Amino acid sequence: MSLTPVLTKRFGTDQPWKIDNYERLDGYAGLRKALAMAPDELIALVKESNLRGRGGAGFPTGMKWQFIPQAKAGEPSKPHYVVVNADEGEPGTCRDMPLMMNDPHSMLEGILIACYAVRAEHAFIYIRGEAVHAIRRVTAAVNEARAKGYIGADILGSGFDVQVTVHNGAGAYICGEETALLDSLEGRRGQPRLKPPFPATNGLYDAPTVVNNVGTLASVPYIVLGGADWFKAMGPDGSPGPCIYSLSGRVARPGQYEAPMGTTLRELLELAGGMSRGKELKFWTPGGSSTPMFGRDQLDVALDFDAAAKAGSLNGTSALMIFDEDDCVVRAVQKWSEFYEHESCGKCTPCREGTYWYVGIYDRLERGGGTAEDLETLLDLSDNILGRSFCALGDGATSPVSSSIQLFRDEYQAHIDNHGCPFTRTGARTLAGAH
Ligand SMILES: Cc1cc2nc3c(=O)[nH]c(=O)nc-3n(C[C@H](O)[C@H](O)[C@H](O)COP(=O)(O)O)c2cc1C
Ligand code: SF4
Repeated sequence: MSLTPVLTKRFGTDQPWKIDNYERLDGYAGLRKALAMAPDELIALVKESNLRGRGGAGFPTGMKWQFIPQAKAGEPSKPHYVVVNADEGEPGTCRDMPLMMNDPHSMLEGILIACYAVRAEHAFIYIRGEAVHAIRRVTAAVNEARAKGYIGADILGSGFDVQVTVHNGAGAYICGEETALLDSLEGRRGQPRLKPPFPATNGLYDAPTVVNNVGTLASVPYIVLGGADWFKAMGPDGSPGPCIYSLSGRVARPGQYEAPMGTTLRELLELAGGMSRGKELKFWTPGGSSTPMFGRDQLDVALDFDAAAKAGSLNGTSALMIFDEDDCVVRAVQKWSEFYEHESCGKCTPCREGTYWYVGIYDRLERGGGTAEDLETLLDLSDNILGRSFCALGDGATSPVSSSIQLFRDEYQAHIDNHGCPFTRTGARTLAGAH
């Protein structure tokens, strides 16, 4: 498979995070071009490109920008904000941090173009608190861009003023949910807000706000420079563009692989040197732990927002966690369930209580006290969490549970019959016939 990188084209070059090096490779050319366009033209261009948000839900970016209410000339208007979601907490997901470390200016350039398009005067970059390296790198990039006149008053003589603030989160997965993020940014405990109203009208400080993912915004300068048709030529029409897939787990060369949207796991495995240790693929997540798992039969599913959904899962954060024949699916789901229980913000009962119950049952199954009734309780709990939780964290917590029971019910049964996990921690099976 031969690929022409876009988002990662500067990775591996000489100190690509430095502004001079960035400028040498088309850096800030997109912003210059954008400032010569009318803001509405830019929104129309991003709409035309069919760019869909890379944060997980795949919402059309141009449409999101268009939702920002614009006052007519002479009318009073609230300030507008652009908020960058750089929380990246979904298990398995590792795209935004490498992007910010290698090429922070591409995200920054996208932020400035977005601010100009939606007439925002201030952008906030909300970065996961533990990612101190990324916080330092992005802060340095903001300072460089400010010193060169890309941030501040009258940028590049356009009359457009914008400020950029880097904000450190405190390491809570729920603060990646856009409204919890806004609460956290305002200094409150990060918990999701009731929607509607949506951030487009009542976001940060109750003002119109665009919340976009790092990868979404980093795609924007390329669209401005290359045009909508060029962007749509990569991947399927309804879900086009370049995508950074992160591959982890049992692959020979785990890491970030950029490919057009709609690439399959079979193709990605080819890039990543295949399965490690020559083992067989058993199960994998197409978009992080919150997306229903796939098995071997889905190797050729196109990994884009529409095709992955049609095949019964979600493209999510394009985080592929890959497991082989020696991995215990019950144990993998146990670990994810512990994560969701820990990260549940506690605001609503189905998620707070349901994830707590998940953890107790998985502990029992792994330790040897599991019963057939436990399996039914897991399914019943999933039924009561899915669609009944206040935010998508609860829904996501059910994905690995329901999909693993659907695909590997016999392995759950083996845990009950064997009075515990039939796998050793190193992966070898101890029970003949269990898989
Ligand atoms: C529990 C939870 C965690 C999330 N974490 C992130 C995250 O770390 N980064 C992100 O961009 N979106 C995350 N999202 C999705 C955001 O709510 C939102 O959809 C996204 O930032 C919108 O940006 P986009 O339109 O560019 O995709 C999360 C959603 C949920 C429910
Ligand atoms: S679903 Fe979970 S994380 Fe979301 S509001 Fe309810 S308790 Fe909080």
